[in-house]
Amino acid sequence: MTDWIQRWKEGKIGWHRQKPNSKLIEFIDCLELQQGDCVFVPLCGKSVDMLYLLDQGYQVLGVELSELAAEQFFAENNLTFTTNKTKFFTRYIGENIQILCGDYFDLSAKDLAEVRGVYDRASLIALPSDLRVKYAQHLYAIIAPGCRVLLLTLNYPQSQISGPPFAVNQAEVESLYEKGFECQQLQCFDDLENEPKFQRSNVDFIEKATYCLRKY
Ligand SMILES: C[S@@+](CC[C@H](N)C(=O)[O-])C[C@H]1O[C@@H](n2cnc3c(N)ncnc32)[C@H](O)[C@@H]1O
Repeated sequence: MTDWIQRWKEGKIGWHRQKPNSKLIEFIDCLELQQGDCVFVPLCGKSVDMLYLLDQGYQVLGVELSELAAEQFFAENNLTFTTNKTKFFTRYIGENIQILCGDYFDLSAKDLAEVRGVYDRASLIALPSDLRVKYAQHLYAIIAPGCRVLLLTLNYPQSQISGPPFAVNQAEVESLYEKGFECQQLQCFDDLENEPKFQRSNVDFIEKATYCLRKY
């Protein structure tokens, strides 16, 4: 089991990127958002993708286990914030953005009442297979009907290297979201040439896939 809090303390956050994800920029329209709509970013870390969403005129609601991640997000982007505590979460509140620090599995539909779209990069693939099932079921339970999800995943031969990130192939995505969601794969390509860590492990391929889901 990954100790995420410890990873943040030790700065072992190899997944973090300095620039917004190109697939978010390319496919954000699939979320069919209106200006001012709120986008939920599960397991958000200190992702600058949240900054991109703010810059596009959306509100952001993130959830993240590590308070260090939330503090670094606000400090590194020169954003002011206040905090308050609820039963399960410490709420970091900035302008048009809130990061709830606590466990994703403690979120309720009430917490996400304002959410109109979901952006999931590197959260499904951060979890081992049993938790992925729980993660997808919980997402179904907390988002409203009609809500769309832009989902970015990775797939590679899991026998050649261990996660996280864990390999999640198209069949698994379809099975995880078969109950209650429409699921469309928008893109999938092998990006081994840009993944030196996977090259060093002699992995045969690393597919990057983008999906658009819609809760019925
Ligand atoms: C692989 S990182 C991805 C971060 C972010 N989505 C990004 O693209 O940079 C996974 C993040 O999920 C957080 N996390 C793991 N399990 C969680 C849980 N049950 N609830 C909330 N956050 C969690 C970790 O602390 C970590 O920051």
